[in-house]
Amino acid sequence: MKLNIPPIVLYLVLTISGTAQSVGIDIKKFGGIPDADITQAFTDAWKVACASTSASKILIPNGTYKMKAVDVKGPCMAPIEIQIDGTIQAPADPNALDGAKQWVKIGYANFITLSGKGIFDGQGAIAWKQNDCRTNTNCKIPSMNFGFNFVNHSMVRGITSKDSKSFHVILFGCYNFTFDGFHISAPETSINTDGIHIGKSTDVKILNTNIATGDDCVSLGDGSIHVTVQNVNCGPGHGISVGSLGKYTNEEPVKDLLVKNCTLTNTENGVRIKTWPNSSQTYLVTDMHFEDITMVDVLNPVIIDQEYCPWNHCPKQSPSKIKIRKVSFSDIKGTSKSKEGVIFICSKAVPCEDVELNNVALTFKGDPIVAKCANVRPKFAGKAPPCTA
Ligand SMILES: *[C@@H]1O[C@H](CO)[C@@H](O)[C@H](O)[C@H]1NC(C)=O
Ligand SMILES: *[C@@H]1O[C@H](CO)[C@@H](O)[C@H](O)[C@H]1NC(C)=O
Ligand SMILES: *[C@@H]1O[C@H](CO)[C@@H](O)[C@H](O)[C@H]1NC(C)=O
Ligand SMILES: *[C@@H]1O[C@H](CO)[C@@H](O)[C@H](O)[C@H]1NC(C)=O
Ligand SMILES: *[C@@H]1O[C@H](CO)[C@@H](O)[C@H](O)[C@H]1NC(C)=O
Repeated sequence: MKLNIPPIVLYLVLTISGTAQSVGIDIKKFGGIPDADITQAFTDAWKVACASTSASKILIPNGTYKMKAVDVKGPCMAPIEIQIDGTIQAPADPNALDGAKQWVKIGYANFITLSGKGIFDGQGAIAWKQNDCRTNTNCKIPSMNFGFNFVNHSMVRGITSKDSKSFHVILFGCYNFTFDGFHISAPETSINTDGIHIGKSTDVKILNTNIATGDDCVSLGDGSIHVTVQNVNCGPGHGISVGSLGKYTNEEPVKDLLVKNCTLTNTENGVRIKTWPNSSQTYLVTDMHFEDITMVDVLNPVIIDQEYCPWNHCPKQSPSKIKIRKVSFSDIKGTSKSKEGVIFICSKAVPCEDVELNNVALTFKGDPIVAKCANVRPKFAGKAPPCTA
């Protein structure tokens, strides 16, 4: 493809370290100016960056821009940073994205960084109003703000994902991917606006991130391996979840999760593992560790639910075949909005094993909470609520 690149497009800028040089690419040079639609400019800037044999940086300066769906891919020759300091708005009309599953889709590339103080505004209000996924199992899922597919050694830093039409971010097939100082915001009532969903990805870190949204703040789908969620605030939202798992075929095990030093405020769930009943496959969910967690008025602070079935469309009498093993909850404190602050509904086909509660000091209206336990014999250490059933 022939690119029509004006001669002054490429110039050198110093990177943050002040030592290495990277090629600076100002989106303005591609017609990406404030108030304009920058769909083409973004794509053209990516092509130049991707072809550059030295590291490059695309700059989207302060200002408000419009952008339709973009779908950019590698392989690229060298690292690319996209620094966004402006606000980029998606079309508010869900049909104006040509059925794209993701508004900003980046795939098959390594060493990609999104940075800056900019905002990606999905303008989701109309999409939430039209969303009927709570009653229609074949509903059309509106576009997500970001999709990273098969992207390795990459990072999202500083920017904000706002009012996505559905999930804010989905990672699929990624390896060594970090979110640091990222922000997610959408109203509590927005539908299906999960924060970050991870699927079939390894070595993912979510650090120093504030997530306020209408669904799970972080969710781990099948094949999530070695994930760290640390210094994260969640709320409003539905909490930090493993799952839901077991709904589809060809799912892969989930292992090595650490959730540490997180605060959940006014969320529906705190930390949760959920699997559907009647799963078609048998596999392991193992080494899930939750520590130093503060709950502020959380409805279900600690929950394993192997009969997860929103809207009751499934046969609960047929148990989940997903095996949950080696799960610990340590130093969990704060307030629960229900008496049963710990709920373990494990599978009767494959009971949970090695579940440990260590210093779980939650209160409900000033009194200690109780734990409800089925098909599990948790180990207790320090302060922890005994199982009542
Ligand atoms: C750029 O940022 C400054 C301060 O952060 C702000 O006052 C100004 O209005 C912004 N310019 C545009 C075009 O948005
Ligand atoms: C990313 O890493 C995975 C696993 O190491 C590898 O299979 C894949 O090819 C890599 N992707 C790219 C775009 O290099
Ligand atoms: C992970 O990716 C970062 C870039 O985001 C890179 O600096 C680092 O070396 C990578 N780590 C591994 C183990 O490949
Ligand atoms: C815990 O996370 C908060 C951010 O939510 C951060 O300010 C604080 O420094 C973290 N504490 C430790 C010990 O890292
Ligand atoms: C349970 O799962 C099996 C196989 O996954 C499926 O064939 C069957 O229809 C399911 N049962 C019900 C009642 O949904």
